[in-house]
Amino acid sequence: MSAPTAPTRPVTIVPMRRRHLRGVLRIERHSVHARWSTGLFLNELAGTNRCYVVALDDAARSTTRAVVGFAGLLCTGPDAHVTTIAVHPDARRAHIGTRLLLVLATEARRRGAEAMTLEVAASNAAAVALYECFGFQVEGVRAGYYAELGEDALVLWMSDLAGDAAGRRLAAIAAGLDPALHTEELIG
Ligand SMILES: CC(C)(COP(=O)(O)OP(=O)(O)OC[C@H]1O[C@@H](n2cnc3c(N)ncnc32)[C@H](O)[C@@H]1OP(=O)(O)O)[C@@H](O)C(=O)NCCC(=O)NCCS
Repeated sequence: MSAPTAPTRPVTIVPMRRRHLRGVLRIERHSVHARWSTGLFLNELAGTNRCYVVALDDAARSTTRAVVGFAGLLCTGPDAHVTTIAVHPDARRAHIGTRLLLVLATEARRRGAEAMTLEVAASNAAAVALYECFGFQVEGVRAGYYAELGEDALVLWMSDLAGDAAGRRLAAIAAGLDPALHTEELIG
């Protein structure tokens, strides 16, 4: 990864709770897809085999404004599915998305997942670039997946999630982040 274009900022990553949802939806509304409602998030939080996290801005005071990013994971059998990930537009390019994805990948490995997958719109260059940093590869296309955008989804997989190579890759990404400016509570 090259130098970030936004200043790094201290964030703490914690499990998503109902009290974070106003802040989460504030970010979701900025997303091109913006398909997730409060009810959908509540269902996910109540579901089993899920892991939802938020990135909290350590400098912010109110809970709503403190949420600068979020991400979710669904583990089914050997596969871990990244269901959502977003960072507030004002907080992008500060490696918060990287931190969120690192937490999900680490948690997926801890739960015994062998592979990790997600869908992304082909035009979403920022997200595709983030996933490439983690070693995700395009393995298919879901036609019309983003019907509201008239766009297909690329299906990405990290097929070697459980292996040593992926472990080394994730460790290298973590080592490349600035530890001095970030506090983090990894879950699990
Ligand atoms: C995709 C998203 C989560 C990335 O979050 P982020 O915190 O800005 O990403 P990071 O700072 O961790 O970026 C990590 C790397 O990804 C790549 N990247 C991220 N954003 C990029 C952009 N706009 N253009 C090019 N590369 C980008 C870079 O390689 C970057 O490393 P670098 O900054 O050291 O060069 C964010 O852009 C977002 O919330 N988008 C809207 C929601 C969305 O599209 N979610 C994905 C749905 S599949």
